[in-house]
Amino acid sequence: MTSTPSISFAKFAAPKKGSAMVLVADGGVMSDAAKALDTAGAFSRAFTASDFSGRSGGTVEILAPEGSPLDRVVALGVGNPGEIDDYSWLKLGGSIGAQLRKAVEVAVIAELAERPLEAGEVARLAAGLLLRCYTFEKYKSRKDDADDKPANTRPAKVTIHCADPAAAKKAFADLQAVVDGVTLARDLVNEPANVLGPVEFAASAKGLEKLGVTVEILTEKEMKKLGMGALLGVSQGSARPPRLVVMRWNGGKAKDNPIAFIGKGVVFDTGGVSIKTAAGMEEMKGDMGGAAAVTGLMHALAARKAKVNAVGILGCVENMVDGNSQRPGDIVTSMSGQTIEVLNTDAEGRLVLADALWYCNERFQPKFMVNLATLTGAVMVALGKSYAGLFSNNDELAERLTNAGLTTQEKLWRLPLGAEYDKLIDSKNADMKNIGGRHGGAITAAQFLKRFVKDTPWAHIDIAGTAIGSLSNEINQSWASGFGVRLLDQFVRDHYES
Ligand code: BES
Ligand code: MN
Ligand code: ZN
Repeated sequence: MTSTPSISFAKFAAPKKGSAMVLVADGGVMSDAAKALDTAGAFSRAFTASDFSGRSGGTVEILAPEGSPLDRVVALGVGNPGEIDDYSWLKLGGSIGAQLRKAVEVAVIAELAERPLEAGEVARLAAGLLLRCYTFEKYKSRKDDADDKPANTRPAKVTIHCADPAAAKKAFADLQAVVDGVTLARDLVNEPANVLGPVEFAASAKGLEKLGVTVEILTEKEMKKLGMGALLGVSQGSARPPRLVVMRWNGGKAKDNPIAFIGKGVVFDTGGVSIKTAAGMEEMKGDMGGAAAVTGLMHALAARKAKVNAVGILGCVENMVDGNSQRPGDIVTSMSGQTIEVLNTDAEGRLVLADALWYCNERFQPKFMVNLATLTGAVMVALGKSYAGLFSNNDELAERLTNAGLTTQEKLWRLPLGAEYDKLIDSKNADMKNIGGRHGGAITAAQFLKRFVKDTPWAHIDIAGTAIGSLSNEINQSWASGFGVRLLDQFVRDHYES
């Protein structure tokens, strides 16, 4: 059962029943279509009574307006119409989503006083609305329990009234691809680890074949043959075998080297023998947030037929405690040939990514590699939960990612790399160790990854603080935000489509 609203687009017409949503600019300025719904001056009285001036983010609800067939009109403030950017439209759509409540029929009047909304703006409203209304309810067998947010068993039917419904529909199809990618990523992260193991994760990625993505799944045996001792060492304590997923979307020119995205897919992280404390360990079902974002991104690129060649690689393993688990002090040999002394089995994400990055680079000679990972608690100590950590060996790549972060409000903050940090992971007994000591933990983790990318332009995005246990905002109310999908889709749109 889903309560996902359905959305359609129509020409302006006065709604005759249900709820209507209208946009109000600074100073209480409304479009003619909105004013026409105000049959007996109820709006201006309500605005005054609730001190509403149309500032961005404000809302007023007018119930059963006098002389009107409508049950409810919600006025949404948009502030200064000259200052509404792409993300503001998405947020406004989110606010509309929040105002649906139990409404069944909803008309959104997509018009400002000066002009009707453009098709792209209308599409953003719709996308924001859907992102906001996402819920993860598949394991709630009782829909009517005490929880004060009962699922709406009759999903809202939202009609967006606009100047050019056909153009809006077309613009929305493109954004729907991205919304579906975010939804897929959120679903994967929210799914518990008993249901979603490495094999199941890979099977879910295989589902992208219906969009024209080529999906290969490497088994344990194949990874052994490739010499992926770092990834396999993490996996060896789990009863469930690992998988390496290779997704390819070829929407660009045949001769163009691909761009590549690599995700940490630890379906559950107990810490291994260096076991984590009990409190909050359940959150480690989300330790595949990087792999989920890469899967969601590949979905988005394929569904909107992006003109780019892109590779997505997922290292899917489970980090468990067992008689066969790897021990602190074990030395493993990575696919690169470099040896690693595993001093803490809880620093496992970097071990998985070491082999995934090396494999990607060797096989595809990508233009660049961007990896996403819920890699360290330390990145949250540094940046909190509002920014993901960005590390890169390439200033242009870092700047492009940072800018896509500003556009999408999936924000990145660059942290340093350097020789002084790199030497902290030198080991007495092997080429390197997998931890760097007490300080700068997010940085030493990044330095570790850097040893597996040669000179290929590369960026690492540490999403431990942003992908799971996410802050709620206008377009996300879920524990799993799907962080990275909108960011990387924007980054690809801005620079890599031919
Ligand atoms: N998956 C964790 C990082 C993490 C912590 C993600 C909290 C999301 C929320 C990672 O595998 C880990 O355990 N990192 C250790 C590294 C340490 C042992 C060097 C950490 O951050 O404590
Ligand atoms: Mn760990
Ligand atoms: Zn982990």
